[in-house]
Amino acid sequence: MQKATKRDQALVQIRGLKKNYETPAGEFPALKGIDLEIEQGEFVAMLGKSGAGKSTLINMLTGIDRPTTGEIVVGSQQVHTLNEEQIAVWRGRSVGVIFQFFQLMPSLTCVENVMLPMDFGNLYHNQRSRYQRAMHLLEQMEIAEHAHKPPSAVSGGQRQRVAIARALANDPDFIAADEPTGSLDSKTADAVFRLFEEMVAQGKTILMATHDRDLASRVSRQLLLVDGKIVDDSKG
Ligand SMILES: Nc1ncnc2c1ncn2[C@@H]1O[C@H](COP(=O)(O)OP(=O)(O)OP(=O)(O)O)[C@@H](O)[C@H]1O
Ligand SMILES: [Mg+2]
Repeated sequence: MQKATKRDQALVQIRGLKKNYETPAGEFPALKGIDLEIEQGEFVAMLGKSGAGKSTLINMLTGIDRPTTGEIVVGSQQVHTLNEEQIAVWRGRSVGVIFQFFQLMPSLTCVENVMLPMDFGNLYHNQRSRYQRAMHLLEQMEIAEHAHKPPSAVSGGQRQRVAIARALANDPDFIAADEPTGSLDSKTADAVFRLFEEMVAQGKTILMATHDRDLASRVSRQLLLVDGKIVDDSKG
């Protein structure tokens, strides 16, 4: 992996972000005005109780869902201005997303799931190099022996590791991880965390939603989200 060059601007810039969900009981404000900048190379943990808005913020940032108002810039891309198709292509190439509930394709094997984002990317051109990279990532996650099974035939923790391998497929600069260690035992969680640390050392930027205060205390910056607002932002 190449070390990315330093940028003048923050890699992630969020301004005035609000998200209201439409519910039968009326509008529900899940994010109430978020302003946030994340520099390239930062490893940021996002803490907050269930319902605080962590997944919502990650969904906004990765273009999975749309803000009600506000601006989101990742790299040089103004995410909020893209249409659905453009967002899918941008996300596939530029962002690694690790979902809270995995979102693996049930009809594909584990290794095929990891290869899938490479179809959108432009790093790995032939099937053989895609397969080799996918297997390498599964080996890093210590799950290569299950590569040819469908996700339904592996455990929750193993599925999570496939999802992490998939997020890394296109070697993205920015990784958004929604409770990536939530369903892992402590040894595997630690291995995943150390892999994240290595990626940050190589210039990657990571935003990780987590309930794990121990892991959060090991990163360079912690955000605390309460009721859709950032109430604490501490470095060190
Ligand atoms: N699609 C939706 N429609 C209506 N309300 C929603 C929707 N998605 C989330 N919410 C509400 O928005 C709030 C924030 O939800 P979110 O999933 O972002 O929380 P979270 O911090 O990720 O929680 P957890 O730690 O349980 O994953 C919650 O009150 C939730 O009920
Ligand atoms: Mg969540």
